[in-house]
Amino acid sequence: MEKKANIFVICAPEISSILHKEIKTLGFSNTKEHRLGVQLFGSLSDCMYLNLQLRTANKVLWEVSKLYAANPDQLYNKAINIAWEEEINIDGYFNIDSFVKNDTITDSRFANLKLKDAIVDRFMKAHKKRPDTGPEKDKTRIYMHWVETECILYYDTSGGVIAKHGYRKIPGSAPMLESLAAAVIMVSKWDCKSPFINPMCGSGTLAIEAALLASNTAPGLFRDNFGFMHLASYQETQWNEMCERAQKQIKPCEAKIYASDISEEAIKNAKFNAEEARMNKYIEFTVSDFRQLDIAKEPGIIILNPEYGERLGYEDELVGIYKEIGDLFKQKCQGYTGYVFTGNRILGKNIGLRTKRKIPFYNGSIECRLLEYELYRGTRKE
Ligand SMILES: C[S@@+](CC[C@H](N)C(=O)[O-])C[C@H]1O[C@@H](n2cnc3c(N)ncnc32)[C@H](O)[C@@H]1O
Repeated sequence: MEKKANIFVICAPEISSILHKEIKTLGFSNTKEHRLGVQLFGSLSDCMYLNLQLRTANKVLWEVSKLYAANPDQLYNKAINIAWEEEINIDGYFNIDSFVKNDTITDSRFANLKLKDAIVDRFMKAHKKRPDTGPEKDKTRIYMHWVETECILYYDTSGGVIAKHGYRKIPGSAPMLESLAAAVIMVSKWDCKSPFINPMCGSGTLAIEAALLASNTAPGLFRDNFGFMHLASYQETQWNEMCERAQKQIKPCEAKIYASDISEEAIKNAKFNAEEARMNKYIEFTVSDFRQLDIAKEPGIIILNPEYGERLGYEDELVGIYKEIGDLFKQKCQGYTGYVFTGNRILGKNIGLRTKRKIPFYNGSIECRLLEYELYRGTRKE
C-alpha cells in the first residue's frame, strides 16, 4: 500500500481557483481551495503526477507531520521523533526552507537549524551516520510552515519552483512567469482551436503556453530534476512510465497561433524559446509593430501584455500605446475577444472600450488585471 498524506499545492495569489480547476480536471477529488493553494490527500506518485501536469502551480508539498511547538526546543523534541529515515537516504543530502511566524524566533534560519539538528541527531542515534545538509537546493528538500504554535513539515516534492516550466532559456525584458501566462490563458475564453493572436509577445511566453495547452503537452516534461527524485520511496521506472504516457497524450495543436513584437531581438529569443519547448511548428512569429498587423478574419482571441510603467517604459509615453491598442481592437478585431494584461489601471482606461471582465492577478508583487473586451461586429445589439 502506498503511503498517503496531505498534499498542499502552492500557487501565486489570485490563481488558486484556476489551479483548483486544473487539479480537478486531472481527476483528483476531495480537494480544498485556499487563498494560496489547494489541499488534497495522496501518495508520492500523486505528487509526481501533479508536478508533471500542473501549469499554474508553484510547488507541490507532501506533508510529513503536523506538530505543535511553542518554541525551538519543542520543535526539536517533536521533530526528533519523526521517522525521517523513511524518506531521507542516509547517504543523501537535504536542505530546509521555511516560513516562520512565531514570537520566539526572530530569524527563520534558527528554526531551520533546530529542525536540521533534530533530523541529524535522529540518524546519528540510530545509525552513527547521517545525511549531509547545506544550502544546495537540487536534492531532498524540506519545507517548514510554522505559524504561532502550529508547525507543518513537508517534503517539497518540486524542488525548484515549477511555475517556471523549464523551456524559457532567454527571458528577455519583463517576461511573464510561465505559470501566470498559463493561468491567464486558462481564464480567457480561448477554446484551443480558434486563432490566438499575441502582439507584443516579448520572449513568447503567452504564445508558447497557448501551444503547450492546445497540444496537451505536460510542462513537467521539460524538467529533469524534481525534489521527489531524491526521496527514498521514489521509483524511477514509475516516473519514466508516467512521462511516456504524457508523451503519448501530446496531440497536434489545431489552432493558429500568431506572435509578433516590434523588437527583432525579442522575436529571435521567442523563436529560440519556442524551439526549446518544441512548439515552434505551431507559432507564426513576425517582427511587427502591433499597429501594422493584419488580423486573421476568422475570430479568436487577441491578447497583449504591453509595458505598464513599472519596470519598462514610462507612464506618459505609454498612454498613446494603450489608446492605439483600443483603436486596433475597434478597427481590426471585430468578432474577437480582446485581452490586455496590465499592472496599471490608469493606463488600462486609455484603451477606451467597455471591459466585460477585469480579472485580478499578481505579477510578482505587482497587482495586475486581465482586461477582457468583447469586440462585437457592427453594434452590440446586432
Ligand atoms: C512587457 S513586454 C511583454 C512580455 C511578454 N509577455 C513575455 O512574457 O516575455 C512588452 C513587449 O512589447 C513590445 N512592444 C513595445 N512596443 C511595441 C509596438 N509598438 N509593437 C509591437 N510590440 C511592441 C516590446 O518589445 C516588449 O517585448
